Amino acid sequence: MILEQIATGGCQSYLVGCDDSSSAALIDPEISKIDHYLALAARDGLRIRYLIDTHTHADHFSATRELARRLAVPVVMHRSSAAPFVDLRIGDGEMLLIGQLRLRVIYTPGHTSDSMCLHIDRHLFTGDTLLIGGTGRTDLPSGDPEALHDSLFRRILTLDPETRVLPAHDYKGRQQSTIGKELATNPRLQARDRATFVDLMQNLNLSMPTHVTEALRTNMSGGKSVAQLLAEAAAKVPFMALEELRARVQAAALGEPGDDELIVLDVRERDAYEGGHIPRARLLPRGQLELRVNQELPDPTRRILVCCELGQVSTLAAATLHEMGFAHVVALDGGMKAWRVAGYPLNSGAQS
Ligand SMILES: [Fe+2]
Repeated sequence: MILEQIATGGCQSYLVGCDDSSSAALIDPEISKIDHYLALAARDGLRIRYLIDTHTHADHFSATRELARRLAVPVVMHRSSAAPFVDLRIGDGEMLLIGQLRLRVIYTPGHTSDSMCLHIDRHLFTGDTLLIGGTGRTDLPSGDPEALHDSLFRRILTLDPETRVLPAHDYKGRQQSTIGKELATNPRLQARDRATFVDLMQNLNLSMPTHVTEALRTNMSGGKSVAQLLAEAAAKVPFMALEELRARVQAAALGEPGDDELIVLDVRERDAYEGGHIPRARLLPRGQLELRVNQELPDPTRRILVCCELGQVSTLAAATLHEMGFAHVVALDGGMKAWRVAGYPLNSGAQS
């Protein structure tokens, strides 16, 4: 068995492959690591056959759907998952065949109602059901401390104590444990009766994970996160550094051979523009871009640089213009905030 563990912040993903057949499954992949997973699979000579989420994640953005689109392989989740894009729904006691490997599902609701653990050959991918020195929380949507107690004490903790525990999270850089070690040392497992465990889980007073709303929205619907939209837009257009633009603007102001041809398009709102903009910049707020583009930019062959306050809205606007047929559009790498901080030239007032 080939096993790769990939950490992203506190999240752990796993690439597990059969050395005999070269087929593999990717467990709990995270959106920012897509290239890394594909590179690892290529390095290890593995072909990813299944993309598995152990549960609906509330704290990070799953890459299963995007990878499924790229690789044309199924997204696998537990039967009770609400996500509409799941291709293969699997239940307790059922198995996936990964070459010679047998990946068996143990249904373990509690952290969420769709949580499952995956058991392969003395390795247990525990998702957020059992963590090293902890357990998944039960206070997020569909969490249930009583169900978690049953999943832990009646199901996975009864496995061979030598079974390796490979969780979906670890915030302290630890990579693995065993069932035996967790039973002996995990503080959450010391109070074994149900009522004490439930009481413990209900009084953890944990803060909400960052991006919980966005993570649940995207992971349950297959929709895109803001970061994904920005990354997709950024991949469509070239960028120009602030210093490069400043040099061109100054050369043009001095009448030197500069970049007279370049249209600087400021897509902020009018009051921000009038408060201070790049000399010669034109105003076309992002909200009016599509509706006014024909009047404002009649020549699609012109070179256009798009800027905004922080460099994100301008990236989206530049990608939109590119999509509309403006072949020479670039986005500013940074925004007006950084331009002001750098002390670069500004004009104020209305568009001349
Ligand atoms: Fe989770």
